[in-house]
Amino acid sequence: MILRPGFRVLVAGCGEIARRVHLPYLTTHPCRPEIVLYDTDPATASRAAKEFGLRVHDGPPSAAGAEAAVICTPPSSHADLAVVLLEAGAHVVCEKPLADTIEGAQRIAGAARRHRREVFPCYTNRFRDDVGVFHELLASGEIGKPQQVSARWRRRSGTPGTQGALSAGVLWDLGSHLVDLALRLTGWSGQATVLATATSAEYEPGAADEGWYGSSAPASAAPVVDTVHGLARFSGGGALSLEVSWHAHDVRDEVLIRVTGTRGVAELRTLFGFSPDRRTVPSPAIRVTTDNDPRWRIVLDQQSREPVEYRRQLDLAFSTPRTDPARRLADLTSAVTSVALCDAFARSLTTGASVTALLPEDTRS
Ligand SMILES: NC(=O)c1ccc[n+]([C@@H]2O[C@H](COP(=O)([O-])OP(=O)(O)OC[C@H]3O[C@@H](n4cnc5c(N)ncnc54)[C@H](O)[C@@H]3O)[C@@H](O)[C@H]2O)c1
Repeated sequence: MILRPGFRVLVAGCGEIARRVHLPYLTTHPCRPEIVLYDTDPATASRAAKEFGLRVHDGPPSAAGAEAAVICTPPSSHADLAVVLLEAGAHVVCEKPLADTIEGAQRIAGAARRHRREVFPCYTNRFRDDVGVFHELLASGEIGKPQQVSARWRRRSGTPGTQGALSAGVLWDLGSHLVDLALRLTGWSGQATVLATATSAEYEPGAADEGWYGSSAPASAAPVVDTVHGLARFSGGGALSLEVSWHAHDVRDEVLIRVTGTRGVAELRTLFGFSPDRRTVPSPAIRVTTDNDPRWRIVLDQQSREPVEYRRQLDLAFSTPRTDPARRLADLTSAVTSVALCDAFARSLTTGASVTALLPEDTRS
């Protein structure tokens, strides 16, 4: 969609990500859209209205008369809000995860289709330079066909300070990004058999107080679970190993995605999000080795130190003409696919048993 002067944009949920990313972006956009705020907590809506000089919408979100809506609420509310807004005629930009159940993600995709509206899911790490280079490396075929992916995101002391992330849990907070990338990097879909297990959080007194977002939102409570391990086997032959932790007690935060192919191995070592360790990630960011040359070749030395991917995703969401609706639809389908896998991990965590899920095919060419 293209933002136009006078376009009304409803921002639903005025918490941390809205105030840190979406409202600064929208209030400085050259098209000067009309922005209205909505939050089930009136005090949070008023605080954001005061901070950014905006008006609070009084009434249900469907009655805001918005051409576009940005959903920045906790994941459990994304599906209902998105469907209501799509039915009311708005295009939707939705924070990740698209939904926290496969049924919710499919309802959103169905409503987008029925009402011919766009849904842009903010899987922010899709828009990073290092992820783009890693994707190209895998697509080049240098390491052959991907067979195994090991994806981990460990925060040394990174329990979120917001209800949005805390209520979602570490699997949906960090794991949804990694699952989304693993599937996009490999193109795996079809039937997946998954098993997940979690470690319950045991915090020393005061350890949760630091809060991920620093002083603006200290963690209100320790989570029940702070680390999740998952394994997924795909009917086409691939295997994914996942590890996500809010409280890994490590020296530093890290993200590591290692892909083993039929001819070699490629690694992306980086850091996503607003981690304070992001400025000092050890290099190289991407390296590769193959059976023909068993030495590491450096493909990318450093990751971007600044979190530019947050603005970049919104530039794409709000400034790209609808020249390629097929591509938009495919990006939404791949978000639905990643929700399907996360949902399977979540069900395995709940039941303690392995779960089989059918992942919709990723239709990107
Ligand atoms: N893309 C990223 O890298 C990234 C980073 C951080 C958070 N997020 C996502 O952003 C979303 C919000 O996270 P946050 O950290 O800002 O949470 P938050 O708790 O700070 O803010 C959520 C706000 O939504 C409001 N709210 C709850 N239910 C609502 C509803 N039904 N309608 C309207 N308002 C409602 C709450 O009152 C609160 O003000 C989550 O989906 C999270 O996963 C994404």
